[in-house]
Amino acid sequence: MQKAERLGKLPPYLFVQIRNKIREARERGIDVISLGVGDPDQPTPAHVVQALQQAAEDPANHQYPTDEEKGMLAFRRSVAGWYKERFGVMLDPEREVLGLIGSKEGNHHLCLATLNPGDVAILPDPGYPAYFASAVFAGAQVERVPLRREDGWLPRFDRISDDLASRAKLLFLCYPNNPTGAVASIEFYQQAVDWAKRYDVILVNDNPYSEIAYDGYRTASILQATGAMDVAVEFNSLSKPYNMTGWRIGMAVGNPDLIAGISQVKENTDSGIFNAIQYAGIAALEGPQEPTRDLIAVYQRRRDLVLETLRSIGITPDVPKATFYVWSPTPNGMQSADFAAEVLEKAGVVVTPGLGYGQQGEGYFRISLTINDARLQEAMDRIKGAYS
Ligand SMILES: Cc1ncc(COP(=O)(O)O)c(C=O)c1O
Repeated sequence: MQKAERLGKLPPYLFVQIRNKIREARERGIDVISLGVGDPDQPTPAHVVQALQQAAEDPANHQYPTDEEKGMLAFRRSVAGWYKERFGVMLDPEREVLGLIGSKEGNHHLCLATLNPGDVAILPDPGYPAYFASAVFAGAQVERVPLRREDGWLPRFDRISDDLASRAKLLFLCYPNNPTGAVASIEFYQQAVDWAKRYDVILVNDNPYSEIAYDGYRTASILQATGAMDVAVEFNSLSKPYNMTGWRIGMAVGNPDLIAGISQVKENTDSGIFNAIQYAGIAALEGPQEPTRDLIAVYQRRRDLVLETLRSIGITPDVPKATFYVWSPTPNGMQSADFAAEVLEKAGVVVTPGLGYGQQGEGYFRISLTINDARLQEAMDRIKGAYS
C-alpha cells in the first residue's frame, strides 16, 4: 500500500515504541515494570458501571446516539452544571458544550475544523504527541513554543515574536500539563487570552487532568479568564478522574463558533458517543465524588514515594501539584533515551524519555503513577538498588 504523505510526516508514536521495547525485554526474560503510559489502574466507580448496565438494557439506547455528534442534551447539561460548580463558569449547553469521544478526539477534530493547509499551529515543547499528528493531518505548519523549567513550564508570551504571533492561527496549551505536571493560574490564562485576542489566535486548553490535583490544590479552567469565550475552547474528559479511559467520553466547552466547527466535523466522521456511556457519564459527573478523592489520595501517596526515591539517588524531580506524572531531570544530565534504556537494562523499569515530548524534554524523563502500589514499590526499590 502507498501510504498518504501525511502518515510519513509523523514520528513513530511514542507509546508504540515503548510497547515494542517492553515486548523485546520481556522476550529476553526480564520482569518489566512499565511506568510509561498514563492509564489509570483502578476500576471505574461502581455506580458509574451500574448506570451503564442499566442504560445498556434499554433498547432505545441501542440506536445511533441522541443528538448524534453533539452529545445528548442531558449530558451537555450535566457538563454545564459541573463547570458551573467546579469553576464558576456559566455555559449554554446548547451552544457552548459538546460531548466527545475523549479529549484526544476533540483536539483532532478542532484542527480539522479550524486549520487550512499551510496555517500555522503553535504547539508546546515538550507536549503531548497527539497534538502534532492532529495539526499535521490538517495540513498545518507546526511551530513550537518552548516550555522551560525556570518558567514553571509555562510559555512566555513576551518571547513569542510578533512575526510568529501574527502568522499563528491556533495555539495549544495543556494545563495541568502532560508531561511536566505543571499547573497554570487564572492570571496565566488571562495573559494567554489577552495575547490570543491581540493576534487573533484560536486558543486551546487541553485540560483532562483538572481533577487530579494534590495537597488541596484547585486547578483552574481557561474559561475563568475574562474574554476567554471569544477565543478559547477547552477540552476535558472523564478518563482520568473516574478511571474511564476505555469508555471514551469527554467534552469540549467554550467559544460557540469553535464548538460548532468541531460538531460539523464530527457530524461527518463519527456519530457520537453510545447513549449508555453518556448516561454513565452523567452518573459520574453528578454522583458522589468520594471515589475521585480516594483516587487522588492513592496517587499522592505514590507521587511521594517516587519523589522520595528519586531524591535518594541524587535527582531533583519537580513536585507536581497535579496530573499523575512525575517529571524529573535525568542524573548527571544524561540524554533521556540513554537513561531510559539504562533503567530498563539495570532495573527492568520503563520510564518515558523526555525527548519523546519534544526537544525541550531532552535531559528529562517522566514516570506515570498509574500502576498498583506493590509494583510501584518494587520499581522504586529496583531503581534505588541500581543507582545507589
Ligand atoms: C494531555 C492529554 N490530552 C488528552 C489525552 C487523552 O484523553 P482522553 O482519554 O480524554 O482522550 C491524554 C491522555 O493521556 C493526555 O495526556
